Amino acid sequence: MTKTRKNNSAPENKNISFDFNNMMADAIGEEQGITEAMIQDLSEDIYRVDRELKQKRESGELPFFDLPYQDEVLKEIEDFAGELKSRCDNFVVLGIGGSALGTIALQTALTLPFYNLLSKSKRDGNPRLFVADNIDPDQFKALLDLLDPRLTVCNVISKSGETAETMSQFLIMKEWFNKKLTKEEIKKHFIITTDKKTGNLRKIVEKENYRNFVTPAGVGGRFSVLTPVGLLPAAVVGIDIAQLLAGAGYMDTICKGNNVWENPAYMNGTLHYLADVRKRKNISVMMPYAVALKDVADWYRQLWAESLGKKYSLTGETVRIGPTPVKALGVTDQHSQLQLYLEGPYDKVVTFLTADQYREEVTISDLYPEMDGVGYLGGHTLNELIHAEQRATESALTRNQRLNCTINLSAINPFTVGQLLYMIEVQTAFIGGLYRINPFDQPGVEEGKDYACGIMGRRGYEDKQKEIDRMTSTNLKYVI
Ligand code: PA5
Repeated sequence: MTKTRKNNSAPENKNISFDFNNMMADAIGEEQGITEAMIQDLSEDIYRVDRELKQKRESGELPFFDLPYQDEVLKEIEDFAGELKSRCDNFVVLGIGGSALGTIALQTALTLPFYNLLSKSKRDGNPRLFVADNIDPDQFKALLDLLDPRLTVCNVISKSGETAETMSQFLIMKEWFNKKLTKEEIKKHFIITTDKKTGNLRKIVEKENYRNFVTPAGVGGRFSVLTPVGLLPAAVVGIDIAQLLAGAGYMDTICKGNNVWENPAYMNGTLHYLADVRKRKNISVMMPYAVALKDVADWYRQLWAESLGKKYSLTGETVRIGPTPVKALGVTDQHSQLQLYLEGPYDKVVTFLTADQYREEVTISDLYPEMDGVGYLGGHTLNELIHAEQRATESALTRNQRLNCTINLSAINPFTVGQLLYMIEVQTAFIGGLYRINPFDQPGVEEGKDYACGIMGRRGYEDKQKEIDRMTSTNLKYVI
C-alpha cells in the first residue's frame, strides 16, 4: 500500500479533511502512538474488508452505500416538504434511536441556533421542528401543551413499526388530535415513515390511509439518516437535502478506493482499530469545536456503540468487542472532561470536529485595555478564541502522548455535513470488518425491547415477563 497525497478537489468552502498526525508515533512517541509499520502489517485485512464491503454493496446487501443516489425519493420529499410549509407551524417527529438521532444532528448542524425560538420569517417560513425521542411524561405532556393541533403535523418514524416508545406517543397524539379535529382532518396531520411491507405502522397506514414514506429494506435505523427518516424532517426545516446527498456522494467517490492512505474512512477505522487492539485505547471521544456539530457526536455515539458493541464474532465465537464512544464539546468540556483526558489513563482516542468558518464573526469588545489579564482579549474575535482553544487542547493532548485526530470542515453546510456523515458510516462498516463482527445488527437492543413488551403485558411476551420478575426481585438487604 503506497502513501500518496490525495487531491481532494471539492469546491471551495465544501471541503473536509482528516488530519491524523497526532495518532502517529512520530508525534506521540512509540509507546502510545501508531506506526506506519503497524498499518502496513494490517494491509491484508484492510484489503479483505474492502473486498467484503464491495461484494456486499454490489449484491445489494448494504444499501446504505447507495443512499446518496436516490433522485426520485429526493424529488418526492422536496415537493412534499414545500407543501407542508404552507399548512403547518410545528413539525413533530416521533421516533427514537436511529429514527431520531440523525434528524437531531441535521437540525443542530444546519439550521440557525435556537431555531425553534425564531420568528417564522427568520425561519424562512418553515415550521419549527421538535424531535420527541423520549417518553418522559413531563416532557411529552409539556410538548403537547405547547402546540396547537391545527398547526401541527406529526411524522411517526419507526422502521419496525413496533417500538413501544414511538407507538405510545403515536397513540397519545392521535387522541390529542381527535379532540380538536375530525377523522378526515387528522389524516393530513400524520405522516408515517416505516418499512414498506412489515410492522404495525404499515398496517395502520393501509387501514387509515396516511401519507407515508418508506425506510428502505436493509438500511438499519442508525444508518438511515440519508433516507426519508432524516431527509423529510430536514427538508421541512429548509435544509438543502440535495446538497446533503451530493456531499455524501462526493465522499463516496473518495471512499471507494482501497488505498488506506487515500481513504479517510478506512484510515480512521484502521487507526481506531489499532489504537484499541494494539494500544488498549478503547474509548473514542468525539469532541466538536462548533456547537452546530454537537449532535453529530451524539449520532456517532449511537452508530459506534450499536454497530460495534458485540458479543459474537461472525464465526460465532464470544469476543465481546466494543470501543466505547463518548461525546464531548469544545470548549465547554475543556472545563469538565479535559483533566481526565490529559492526565487519566491512556485509554482514549479524541476525534476533534472543527470548522474553519462559522456563520458569524463576533468581535470581543476592547473595554479594559489597561488590565493585562482581560485587555489582551479585546479586539480579537470569538472565532480566533475558539480556534486558539482547540489548538491549545490538541497541543496539550499531543504533548501528553494522548492520541487525537481532527476532521475539519471548511464550513458547516449541507455538502460538508453530508460528507462527514457518510465518511463516519463507511468508517463504522469498515472497522466492523476489521473486528470481524456484524456491525449491522443490534441483538442487545432487541432484547431490551422484548423485556419492555413483557413488562407492559404484550401478548406473546409472557415468558419475558416471568424472566424479568425472577431477575428483578428485590433483596431488601441491599436497599438503604
Ligand atoms: O439503529 C437502530 O436499529 C435502533 O436504534 C433503532 O433505530 C431504534 O431502536 C428504533 O427502532 P424503530 O425505528 O424500529 O422504531
